[in-house]
Amino acid sequence: SNRTFTMIKPDAWSNGHAGAILDQIIKAGFKVISLKLTQLSPERAGEFYAVHKERPFYGELVEFMSSGPIIAAILEKEGAVAGFRQLIGATNPAQAEEGTIRKRFAESIGRNAIHGSDSDDNAKIESDFFFSGLERF
Ligand code: GTP
Ligand code: MG
Repeated sequence: SNRTFTMIKPDAWSNGHAGAILDQIIKAGFKVISLKLTQLSPERAGEFYAVHKERPFYGELVEFMSSGPIIAAILEKEGAVAGFRQLIGATNPAQAEEGTIRKRFAESIGRNAIHGSDSDDNAKIESDFFFSGLERF
């Protein structure tokens, strides 16, 4: 698949970085297929991150991800999943490479500005979580 899914997280939205992040994504060659500003309820955030249910940071993660607006998007580029993970950088911004989105805009491992799908299967599942068939091209 040539598609991936992303969320610009509540910290980046409230800090005013959403425009610059979208700009970097588009300049890196990703085509925006679908895009929406929305907010997750704690229940839906918990469902999205259910794979992390047993982790010690799960409660904090769910609270943070439902704390404010997010931008959800489906993106297209050859090798989208791996290429996008490279563009956003390591989960912990302290370990992220210079110039990556997390290095530029993330505050901490919890408030780390952006999500990127980790596999083609999850890209599809996460895209379906946010967008109906009528909301994509
Ligand atoms: P996502 O793209 O958001 O899925 O991040 P990731 O794939 O780089 O990391 P992972 O899926 O392992 O973790 C999901 C999210 O949980 C991360 O993006 C962080 O926001 C959060 N997280 C991971 N580890 C920690 C931690 O040690 N503390 C806190 N507070 N949050 C964490
Ligand atoms: Mg992940």
